[in-house]
Amino acid sequence: MYNEIALDTIDIHREPPMEEPARQYYFMAKCREWVQAFAEENGRLPKACVVNFGCQMNARDSEKLSGILECIGFLLTGDENADFVIFNTCTVRDNANQKVYGRLGELNGYKRRNPHMKIALCGCMTQEAAVRQKLRKSYPFVDLVFGTHNLFKFAELLWTTLSEADGMVVDIWEDTDQIVEDLPIERKYPFKSGINIMFGCNNFCSYCIVPYVRGRERSRTPEDILEEIRGLVADGVVEVMLLGQNVNSYGKNLSHPVTFAQLLQKVEQVEGLKRIRFMTSHPKDLSEELIQVMKDSKKICRHLHLPLQSGSTRILERMNRRYTKEQYLELAGRIRREIPDIAITTDIIVGFPGETMEDVEETMDVVRQVRFDNAFTFLYSKRTGTPAAAMEDQVPAGQVKEGFDRLLGLVQDTAREQVARYTGHVMEVLVEEVNESDPSLVTGRLSNNTVVHLPGDASLVGKLVTVSLEECYGFYYMGRICEKLR
Ligand code: SAH
Ligand code: SF4
Ligand code: F3S
Repeated sequence: MYNEIALDTIDIHREPPMEEPARQYYFMAKCREWVQAFAEENGRLPKACVVNFGCQMNARDSEKLSGILECIGFLLTGDENADFVIFNTCTVRDNANQKVYGRLGELNGYKRRNPHMKIALCGCMTQEAAVRQKLRKSYPFVDLVFGTHNLFKFAELLWTTLSEADGMVVDIWEDTDQIVEDLPIERKYPFKSGINIMFGCNNFCSYCIVPYVRGRERSRTPEDILEEIRGLVADGVVEVMLLGQNVNSYGKNLSHPVTFAQLLQKVEQVEGLKRIRFMTSHPKDLSEELIQVMKDSKKICRHLHLPLQSGSTRILERMNRRYTKEQYLELAGRIRREIPDIAITTDIIVGFPGETMEDVEETMDVVRQVRFDNAFTFLYSKRTGTPAAAMEDQVPAGQVKEGFDRLLGLVQDTAREQVARYTGHVMEVLVEEVNESDPSLVTGRLSNNTVVHLPGDASLVGKLVTVSLEECYGFYYMGRICEKLR
């Protein structure tokens, strides 16, 4: 575990300290006493299950929750029939919420058979007042609800829930300017890690709920980020993914402003680090400086996720994206010219209010021109409280479906051709895991993020190997380890 805390040295009989993170360490020590009492009473350690919904940022937050639970002494399990279950939720589209409600119903079944079980909910959904009302009314068996701004307080809230709680403990903050460092973290992969470089979003794209549930943009200092990365590398990490809703506006509000490109140059210098990825780039803020830094870098991966959302300038304007179709095309073209081996991936929404078939055609035109290496296509989902939800011309479901299917077909054809362009080449693969369906294979990724399967065993996991890409099957390669980079 990264940042393990020496809980034995903490005196839990005095008053809790006021400063962070010492306060949380204190409550972790208190919780650990509870865990020890549970173990004596039941002859086993309590089990905890952390379930993540949503994006990479949520995944990183879940690693923090896991780190705290493990430090306290809980046994982590993937089985939701556990003594403590926490759902880290997402609310970007309605289907994300529906999934959580469905799974909560199942948890209630387990709780009836295990009355000691505690259920917690955190993450983006809980920041919405309507969700909290629904939880109180229809899911009263939930024991703890907290939000995105006070995740660092998890140990303290867990202590309240374990020690005195009768009824639902709810703690939601509307916003924060606090960034608490140095809590324990349990990584999912020993060799790669996400790193938050900033929190929140100031863009207010008109369809998007993220700025409302994640608050205003706040950047961590380069010193804190670099210190974390150096620590991770010393702990076996070779690939980092720098995370933010719009990394291209990183550092603007720091007391000593730093650009994202400058941060990347500093990260590049960390010895022992092999690969650098980042997510997500807003096209309006992508600088020439960033393109040049990527081009000259040995470590920054050949992959750029550049969400398009729509190819129609009219719709882009209503989405408040602040670029036109032509500007996007010009930018993507420039990136392809400067860095020819880069993979460009994107997100597209179909069915935004007022969207016509002609608008979808415009989006398809961009797909044909940019030739995305992969594109995530989403059906527009109306999010209460966003400007788009109040727009009058919501598109009928039938029309949305037709546009979506046409776009998806095109996106898949283009991506298939793009991905296959390295057949026969020799490239580096970072092996990530033993293949789930065929244990004689391992699975990894190219610098450009394409998946490669190759013969091998668990000893390769976490290693960079040189692979000949023998055959492309749609969106992945079958390869074989070979001696040299050609
Ligand atoms: N900050 C990132 C996106 C985070 S949300 C960015 O700006 O690129 C991930 C994706 O979800 C978005 O790119 C968008 O395509 C999709 N999305 C967001 N809100 C949506 C909504 N209301 N309906 C459908 N898709 C949505
Ligand atoms: Fe949402 Fe836009 Fe912010 Fe991305 S940039 S999180 S789409 S508001
Ligand atoms: Fe979802 Fe929150 Fe991420 S809404 S996409 S988990 S920031």
